Amino acid sequence: MRQTVVLTGANRGIGLALARLFVTSGNWRVVAGCRNPDSAPELAALASENPDALAVHALDVADPASVSSFVAAIGERPVDLLLNNAGVLGKHQSLDDLDFEAWDHEFRVNTMGPMRLALGLLGNLRKGTDPRIVTISSQMGSMARPRGGAYAYRSTKAALNKAMQGLALDLSDDDICVVVMHPGWVRTDMGGSGADIAVEESAGGIFSVVTGLKAADTGRFLQWNGSEHDW
Ligand SMILES: NC(=O)c1ccc[n+]([C@@H]2O[C@H](COP(=O)([O-])OP(=O)(O)OC[C@H]3O[C@@H](n4cnc5c(N)ncnc54)[C@H](OP(=O)(O)O)[C@@H]3O)[C@@H](O)[C@H]2O)c1
Repeated sequence: MRQTVVLTGANRGIGLALARLFVTSGNWRVVAGCRNPDSAPELAALASENPDALAVHALDVADPASVSSFVAAIGERPVDLLLNNAGVLGKHQSLDDLDFEAWDHEFRVNTMGPMRLALGLLGNLRKGTDPRIVTISSQMGSMARPRGGAYAYRSTKAALNKAMQGLALDLSDDDICVVVMHPGWVRTDMGGSGADIAVEESAGGIFSVVTGLKAADTGRFLQWNGSEHDW
């Protein structure tokens, strides 16, 4: 029987590559969220080619009402994997050009969004098989890598890591595995054309890792290639 993955930010970048992998595996049903389904032609084409394997719903992870509507569209169905991929890296993050409003928005997307989805889908995950909550974080949020600049992005991903570490502990009695991942430095709109790895390599690695996770993996910070990342 096919498992169900809920995937956010599925219309471009790593999210779109992940949607393709889950759909073409034949083993998964994908519930994909994206902000503007009407402006997501590649995701729409994938859905029309695979109507039984992919459903697309509007989702702005920074908007509580949008998250509620998205969760309501999923209904009572079991969810085996929540894959929080949506994220934003704003401009104006240096000391001489810090945009606090944008930082606030980034916090809503990168930190609170994944928590809103996790809590909204907790009942569905409790009914899932090997239930997992995987959130795409970043090495830029790691305390083990002291760096300046990118204040908003780094801090929202560091806060995300801390929130997910706590969630892993709080959900351990439910046998829900909670993991954060660094996807590599990836050639997407966010990573830029000079980044280290192709989106297919990142998504392929993430797919292998998340489909193999067990409850005992909870609380880990992993890289796309399966190796451990320092917190
Ligand atoms: N690329 C890298 O090198 C790299 C490195 C470390 C971590 N990451 C993380 O990997 C994840 C995917 O990044 P990417 O490189 O694929 O970025 P990307 O190409 O910029 O795509 C970002 C995705 O997130 C969506 N998104 C942004 N704000 C959203 C919101 N409020 N609600 C719902 N969706 C929203 C975007 O949708 P729209 O099209 O509507 O904007 C888009 O689908 C992110 O969490 C990012 O922080 C990336």
